[in-house]
Amino acid sequence: MSSSKITQHFRSTVFPIHFVNHRRPYANSSPSPHTSPEESTSSSYLNKFTKYTAKRLPTAILANIIVTGLAGLISVDLMYARYRNRCNERLLNETVEKGTRPRAGISSDKFVPRPEIVERLKRIFQPYEDQSSYHMVYGEHGTGKTTLTRIASSEVGHGVIYVDVPANFEKFAEEFARAINFTFEERISFTAQLMKKILGSTNNKLNYPEWVRAMDAFKRASVVYKAKNGKPPVIVYDNISRLVHKNPEILDILQDDAKDNADDSKYIAVFVSSEGSVPRRMESRSAWSRADKPVIEIGDLGEKESIDYLVNKRKINSVEAKKLYELVGGRIVDLKSVAGKFLAGQSLEVIKQQILTEVKKKFDSANLLRNQSHHEAGKGVISALLDSKEIDTDVFREFFKGEKYNEVLEANVFAYHPSRDTITFQSRSVEYYIQENASIFK
Ligand SMILES: Nc1ncnc2c1ncn2[C@@H]1O[C@H](COP(=O)(O)OP(=O)(O)OP(=O)(O)O)[C@@H](O)[C@H]1O
Ligand SMILES: [Mg+2]
Repeated sequence: MSSSKITQHFRSTVFPIHFVNHRRPYANSSPSPHTSPEESTSSSYLNKFTKYTAKRLPTAILANIIVTGLAGLISVDLMYARYRNRCNERLLNETVEKGTRPRAGISSDKFVPRPEIVERLKRIFQPYEDQSSYHMVYGEHGTGKTTLTRIASSEVGHGVIYVDVPANFEKFAEEFARAINFTFEERISFTAQLMKKILGSTNNKLNYPEWVRAMDAFKRASVVYKAKNGKPPVIVYDNISRLVHKNPEILDILQDDAKDNADDSKYIAVFVSSEGSVPRRMESRSAWSRADKPVIEIGDLGEKESIDYLVNKRKINSVEAKKLYELVGGRIVDLKSVAGKFLAGQSLEVIKQQILTEVKKKFDSANLLRNQSHHEAGKGVISALLDSKEIDTDVFREFFKGEKYNEVLEANVFAYHPSRDTITFQSRSVEYYIQENASIFK
């Protein structure tokens, strides 16, 4: 339809016939000579008004249609979002009920069973109704914490949410949301997305960081879970040490929240950490009062288990297996690594040199080598540890006072044991390096 036809159509349909035709039989004609001046003026106004309105009307109606359409779309979007949010909430409750059940990611033919540790973890993943303490699981890097925690979480299943803290904190919320199967509201509603983009957000809730909102979602589901099962659900924060350097305040918030919620038996948190700086930081805060003690420590495999692993799981002959064990001890990550290198054809001598080089770097960063600032104090600690294998933290602090204490511990030559409040060498490889370089530390 051409625009003049549309105009005509509106004139004839929108305006009453008598209004347009009776008073002005010929829309385009000039006033008749018999018309009174009064009639003539009003007719000319009417004519102008009609022309003007007829010209404007399509735009006005179009605008009206657009506005009505938009309002319709928004209300459909909001209704849909409300429906999806309800589904989201149901899914969240179902996930907490069922548990995250993470996969261990290790084949059974390579796995060294550690039933005592798994059973202990399973016990803390099944809290009783009024439990009012949270937990810490601790062990040096590569002792197998993630693997065992995943196994125990999956075996308990119900009510155990497993969150793997990512290396990049920006992805923490995503990881959290994935663990509980939660979709953020603004990702559901187009209108919420638009409002957030254009106006910032008028909804206060949307202004909180996403990880806080994921946490709130988990807490809502915890209430439902507890009401149904008569006990609080468990949240496992694995690799929590990733927060301690760049985002220590987030670690503090998680700890405070763990304390408050343990007090009310709403949920029980389990922090799994690899670095001594995490338990040291957490212990120094008042929220530590609600941590279950002693801390659960996951350490190295014993000699028999280690040799069994190398011989039976990795098919290395027992003589070579023993030599590899002497080099790295029972740290599973190291056993796995040296077994891989050995099976790939590297000689024992080459593997040994690589390990000694890596350990030397740790001594270097702890300033324990000759002519370095902590050399003398280091010699004292090393001598004490060669004598007794384990020393009290107070003894260690005598050698490394104030800031030096954390500084030296962070270099991973020595390891802190929160369950006994003691210090040992960080690994068998460290001891091996000292034996090979005895003259440096005499
Ligand atoms: N019981 C086991 N049997 C065989 N291999 C294992 C076992 N536990 C762990 N591993 C292997 O050892 C490596 C380190 O394990 P894992 O990641 O669980 O250690 P972790 O203590 O969590 O390390 P990190 O402190 O760095 O987070 C992984 O490759 C894993 O597959
Ligand atoms: Mg881990």
